[in-house]
Amino acid sequence: MRYMTTAEIREKYLQFFESKGCKRLPSSSLIPDDPSLLLTSAGMVQFKPYFLHVKEFDPQYVGATTVQKCVRTNDIENIGVTGRHLSFFEMLGNFSFGKYFKHEMCAWAYEFSTDPEYLGLPAERLYFTVFEDDDETIEIWKSLGVPEDHISRLGEDDNFWRAGPTGPCGPCSEIYFDQGPEVGCGSPDCKPGCDCDRFLEYWNCVFTQFDGQEDGSLAPLITKNIDTGMGLERIAAIMQGVTNNYDTDVLRSLVAVGEGLANVVYKTDPGVDMSLRIMADHARSVTFMIADGILPSNEGRGYVLRRLLRRAVMKGHLLGVEGPFINQYVDQIVQLMGHVYPEIVENRETIRVIIESEEKRFGATMRQGQAFLEEALSGLDSDTLNGQVAFKLHDTYGFPIEVTEEICAERGISVDMEGFAAAMAQQKERARAATKDDAEAAWSTYGSIHADLLKELGATQFVGYDTLHCSARVLALVCAGQRVDSLADGQDGEIILDVTPFYAEMGGEVGDTGTISCPGGFAQVIDTKAPEKGLSAHRVHVVEGSIAVGDEVSASVDGQRRALITRNHTATHVLHAALRKVLGDHVAQKGSYVGPDRLRFDFTHFAAVSRDELVAVEQMANEFIAQAVDTTIYETSLEQARNSGVTALFGEKYGDTVRVVEAGEFSRELCGGCHVANTSEIGIIKIVSEGSAAAGVRRIEAVTSLGAYEYLAKLESVLLSAASALHCSVDAVADRALASVKQVKELQKAAKEAKANASGDALGALVQDARLAKGGYPVVIANIGSADSGAMRNAWDVIKSRMSAPGAAVLIAVNNDKPIMLAAGTDEAVAAGFNAGAVIKAIAPCVAGGGGGKPSMAQAGGKDVSGIEAALDAAAQMLL
Ligand code: ALA
Repeated sequence: MRYMTTAEIREKYLQFFESKGCKRLPSSSLIPDDPSLLLTSAGMVQFKPYFLHVKEFDPQYVGATTVQKCVRTNDIENIGVTGRHLSFFEMLGNFSFGKYFKHEMCAWAYEFSTDPEYLGLPAERLYFTVFEDDDETIEIWKSLGVPEDHISRLGEDDNFWRAGPTGPCGPCSEIYFDQGPEVGCGSPDCKPGCDCDRFLEYWNCVFTQFDGQEDGSLAPLITKNIDTGMGLERIAAIMQGVTNNYDTDVLRSLVAVGEGLANVVYKTDPGVDMSLRIMADHARSVTFMIADGILPSNEGRGYVLRRLLRRAVMKGHLLGVEGPFINQYVDQIVQLMGHVYPEIVENRETIRVIIESEEKRFGATMRQGQAFLEEALSGLDSDTLNGQVAFKLHDTYGFPIEVTEEICAERGISVDMEGFAAAMAQQKERARAATKDDAEAAWSTYGSIHADLLKELGATQFVGYDTLHCSARVLALVCAGQRVDSLADGQDGEIILDVTPFYAEMGGEVGDTGTISCPGGFAQVIDTKAPEKGLSAHRVHVVEGSIAVGDEVSASVDGQRRALITRNHTATHVLHAALRKVLGDHVAQKGSYVGPDRLRFDFTHFAAVSRDELVAVEQMANEFIAQAVDTTIYETSLEQARNSGVTALFGEKYGDTVRVVEAGEFSRELCGGCHVANTSEIGIIKIVSEGSAAAGVRRIEAVTSLGAYEYLAKLESVLLSAASALHCSVDAVADRALASVKQVKELQKAAKEAKANASGDALGALVQDARLAKGGYPVVIANIGSADSGAMRNAWDVIKSRMSAPGAAVLIAVNNDKPIMLAAGTDEAVAAGFNAGAVIKAIAPCVAGGGGGKPSMAQAGGKDVSGIEAALDAAAQMLL
């Protein structure tokens, strides 16, 4: 067997299947174009429409071959523990949609596996499994020279493959490599399918013949197909003579990144090894997920990403790595894999920024969370951690639940997962109730009705790009979630038409409003949405007569409002183009809102947009708008659009035919929305705010045309009021305001100084009036008015510093209507017989108080202000 690098195997595989007539295609995105899947987890995902013959594959080829990036997290707890589980892996595949089947597939798999031109694996170390009753495949393997005792039958769990509960599936045959008894479990029953490491499955050949139905039954597909998957990391391990995926070239160099970071040596401590493997694996998933447009969040694939990232960060932290570190993996991953997956090179900066900000954000709470967990664990009187505590760790400190479980498991403690799930469900319910307004809730209750309506009535024909008014027929009506025959005066409901000029909310652009009327009735359209793709539902309030199914109506969009929307929409494109020109090509749209009143644009960028940059963007956008450029809108193939440099949305899915919206050379975007015919219609664009929308995502809000006018008029009126209040011209407002602020500060400072001087002077007068005590030192005995005990101590400091000779003082003041007193003396006065504690003790009763202290300093409080004079007299009697 010859050592082969991962890159070499990848290329050989693709070339081999190209030589058999397959078309080489790129990996599809990790975001599948398939609502039944969260993430792309197999090579076949992008080919589902061809298996189902919803689409036909290029007839010049017998099939397709790919290397597909995949993410699977269903067995996350095994990742890093075993040598063969990975959350990110590459799958080498070949696919036939009715052209070739079992005979060719088995022969090719055998050829590629054993021919020294390719893998050259020793035939005696290969084992084959087939689905329990698949005699045909057994015969095929035998005809290729595989001895009978290297073939075994396995049941549905092992040898019937499905991507999910429904969709293309079929029996499969798997090829295993015998890694040798020394890595096995040693059991006499050990054979392919055993959980141990001895027999490593490296190639799964699926004979995709069925379409799994919702009810669990299997409908035969029109053709017999092939879907295969070879785990690249696994075959690399075999070809590199190692028994662990992490010892192969690519992954080993990622493990080495962790060794450097944590200053540890791999394979000296099993616990450390596990962390190093988890860090390497998860960093790869995270890099590729972000490159495909996934952002960390608390749900769906965003949460998978967040969990992987945080788990890797925790592992690093527990190994003593300080500060954000995942980007060091990113650099290495880009170097190792960028030539196969250009998206990680193109989006490198975005990936880095998103990772770093998520790491920083998590790092800050991670330590607090750990302390919280430690405390909870130390107070535990059972071996189960309360589900509420686990939920708090998740909710407040961002701990993925499996991380909490792992930390607990290390101490032999389990987590109450039911309690955790219940707390989570409760929170979801609270959040849902808090955010859904009534209107939204009303739309969402209609869910299943719309799917039925679409099936029955087909898609609504949209004519609103070209006209705002048309005649139409009412195909269906919905009221309170039920289909009805008519909607009467005063009722709210939804109207489904055969054709409509109303744009249904999509791609950030809000739905149209307007009217739908017929001779017998008149309804106001409050909103238009597409609850199912292609089906437009007009939410209406009937104000006169009634509207019935079958009525011929006239549908009319509110043209003024639509005009404002189109201006904001085209302005969004112009703004996008200007942002890319000013900030760089990493700027990619992450979301938008286009309404009649304003627009919002979210985009990837790693720092706040500075004032200068913002001004440059706004100026460039306005200069372009003022050029009065005609927009051109046309349909073309996705391929052609891409080739002509159209800006497509990051991670977005498009059909084969796309709509391009062009504004001269300045902006060219794929878009389904409504746009102006000439940029001059936008009038002016004014950015009103810039801020952060999420980690690595900035948000700009802007207004155009009349909205911009209103905004500027309001600013002007504020400015005029300011000028009038400051008694100056508009031009002088800033200078005058600055000068006023400065003046106020100066006056405040002067006032403070004056007050301090005044009290200093009063104290100076007291020092002048100091009398001579029996012991021969000067003493001030005085009522200093209103002061708290701090001020009284300050007063003693001032008196002390101003006395001509070291002396003493007995001071009384009123604080909150109560007398307080202080006696204090210098060392010299004390040496001459002054005793502050004794003085206070003697005079405090005069003010109904008590207290005492040392000979040099004593304080007391009293209750009766009327005794102040008596107290001062008592002090004088005692000291003078
Ligand atoms: N789709 C098959 C798998 O993922 C090849 O194993």
